Amino acid sequence: MKEGSPIAVFDSGLGGLSVARDLHSQAPEEPLLYLADTRYCPYGGRPLEEIRERSLHVGRYLVGLGARALVVACNSASGAALEVLRENLPVPVIGMEPAVKPAAAATRNGSVGVMATAATLSADRYERLMHAHARNVVVTGQACPGLVELVEEGETEGDRVRQVLRPLLEPLEEAGVDTVVLGCTHYPFLRDAIAEIMGPGVTLIESGPAVARQTLRILESQGSRFPAGPGTERAKMRFLTTGDPIRVAPAAERLWLAPLKVKGIAL
Ligand code: DGL
Repeated sequence: MKEGSPIAVFDSGLGGLSVARDLHSQAPEEPLLYLADTRYCPYGGRPLEEIRERSLHVGRYLVGLGARALVVACNSASGAALEVLRENLPVPVIGMEPAVKPAAAATRNGSVGVMATAATLSADRYERLMHAHARNVVVTGQACPGLVELVEEGETEGDRVRQVLRPLLEPLEEAGVDTVVLGCTHYPFLRDAIAEIMGPGVTLIESGPAVARQTLRILESQGSRFPAGPGTERAKMRFLTTGDPIRVAPAAERLWLAPLKVKGIAL
C-alpha cells in the first residue's frame, strides 16, 4: 500500500457524502478522496451509455491520483457502469445498489417503495435485483426528479423541500408501503423530511453503512487497511469537484458538517 493512498469516493455530486460519512465514522483513520462530478450532475436523467463513459473517465482519473479502492457512491453510476469499472480498473471497485433485499426482509405488509433516479430504475442491474430479492413483495419504484438538485444546494429541510417531496411520495402512500428504500445517495440527506411526510409507521432503509462495511472488509482481506492504533489521527478528506468550487463548497460543508478544502478540477 502506498503511504497515504486514499479510498476514492465518487458521485455525480454531493450525495456520495452520505456514504463518505459512513466510511469516515466507521474508519476515521482512512484517508478519503472525494470527487463530485458536479459539472455533469445530475446523472439520473442521462442515458446509461453516457453515465458509463463518464464513470470510467472519472474512475481512471482517481486511480491515476493513487486511489487504493474506488467506492462508486452513486446508484445511477453503479447501475450503469459497475461491471465496466471492475473490468477496467486495477483496484477494488465497490458499488451501490438500492437496499431491496433488506427492505424485502423488513416489510411487514409486503409493500415496499423504492425511491431512485430514472437511470437506476431502468438499469439491468435493478431488474436483476428485483428478480433475485423481491419476488414475494410488491415493489413500487418511484423516480424522484428534483431531489438531487435540492441536496446540491445544501437544502434538506423546510417548505420547498416538503413541496417537492409530497407529490413524489404520494404514489408510495397510495400503494400503502411500510418500507421505503432510499435508492440514491442524495436521499439520506432528506431522510428527516421524508420520514415526517411518510409518518412513523414507515421504515426508511439506506445502503451507505453496509457499503462502508463491505469496503473496509475488502481492504482488510487484502491487507491494505490503513494502519490504525491508539492515538491515530482522524484523516482529512480531500474534496474535488468538476464544478465551481466557490459555489460547491458551502453546500458540501453544510452536508459534511465540517470545513472542507474544495478544489476545482477540469475533467
Ligand atoms: N447520487 C446519485 C445516485 O445515487 C446520482 C443522482 C443523480 O446525479 O441523478 O443515484
